[in-house]
Amino acid sequence: MQCSYFDAGLCRSCTLLDTPYAEQLTSKQARVEELLDAHSPEWLSPIASPEQGFRNKAKMVVGGTAAAPTLGILDGRGEGVDIRGCALHLAPIHDALPVLARFITLTGLQPYDVPSRRGDLKYVLVTANAEGELLVRFVVRSEDVVSRLRRHLAALQETLPNAVVVTANLLPEHKAVTEGEREIVLTSRDRLTMTLAGMRLELRPQSFFQTNTPVADQLYTQARTWVDELGPASVWDLYCGVGGFALACAAPGRAVLGVETSVDAVLSARATARREGLDDVRFEAGDATEAALQAQPGEHPDVVIVNPPRRGIGETLARWLDASGVQHVVYSSCNPVTLVRDLEWMPGFRMRRARALDMFPHTTHLEVVTLLERVDSPATDRPRVRMP
Ligand SMILES: C[S@@+](CC[C@H](N)C(=O)[O-])C[C@H]1O[C@@H](n2cnc3c(N)ncnc32)[C@H](O)[C@@H]1O
Repeated sequence: MQCSYFDAGLCRSCTLLDTPYAEQLTSKQARVEELLDAHSPEWLSPIASPEQGFRNKAKMVVGGTAAAPTLGILDGRGEGVDIRGCALHLAPIHDALPVLARFITLTGLQPYDVPSRRGDLKYVLVTANAEGELLVRFVVRSEDVVSRLRRHLAALQETLPNAVVVTANLLPEHKAVTEGEREIVLTSRDRLTMTLAGMRLELRPQSFFQTNTPVADQLYTQARTWVDELGPASVWDLYCGVGGFALACAAPGRAVLGVETSVDAVLSARATARREGLDDVRFEAGDATEAALQAQPGEHPDVVIVNPPRRGIGETLARWLDASGVQHVVYSSCNPVTLVRDLEWMPGFRMRRARALDMFPHTTHLEVVTLLERVDSPATDRPRVRMP
């Protein structure tokens, strides 16, 4: 893929851009096979991504001035670099960014200046669904400027009619995070519907969503295929986000429970389950490890799906899984290093199958989904009972 920002040395986020895509994929597969070598799974062919136009979310730092804002990244001095034409984004995002830059000028919102810690607007976060509808979030420093966004909302909706959800997110602190805890929804709609893997997932603003829609489609499809082959009566989806795995694996007579810390994500997942009439699919807000530890002795599902952040599931949950009567684990990881570490605490399981998915083309990152099967009795031989 050709990128003028990369060629000009303005943006180096796509560290592998000089490497032909086929070569990127081969070397990622080789690296993950090497990392998981001791587990010798059956490897399924890797899932490639489109080389561009795959990102459903843009996280743009706002820099420059209200009259001439930059949308993109910060350079080494904390000054804005405009990369609004980034080719990774889906077309509706690509088309929306110049309109949003003009809107910033119209509102007079001052971009936040990192070195001086002055200004109102820190980021613009834009998510697009398959229908081209947009969720636009303005990450601002204080509530004072929200009225200005409200005042100009009609103008935004006129120039960007597909911006169906618009919010202000409050991030008063000078912190290296992209959003704060408070979200003020400015439109009548408060969520987007994301279509993938034969599902329509509701997405509220403060919820994680896999950024590469076509590859996420394959990820959920793979998990559903493995789970359906096993035919479990009960499944937990830990770190469930808006419920992609849980909802993909729902089936008549199968009880599914999703657990996730983000309340917005849980509300999104519940809304999808309700709309689809999936009475056997429940979602709870909470910590994944705590949820497992709170299960009554003997209480465990047949299959557990885990899809944690880069830090992995950690020792406590890994040991709980090992000591439980859970027969299969689907572990989907965006960091094979922590996956390998977590497996050290789960000696009762063997990795049967694995598949790499190129969720993050042009970078060294990848997703790997694995199917683990119990090979010896759990440390605590508990009878299997109904889910909570
Ligand atoms: C890699 S994302 C996966 C989300 C989801 N499985 C999906 O496919 O979209 C990890 C998720 O874990 C959630 N999370 C982080 N820490 C958690 C914890 N301690 N317990 C439960 N969920 C957690 C995050 O909010 C995020 O939604």
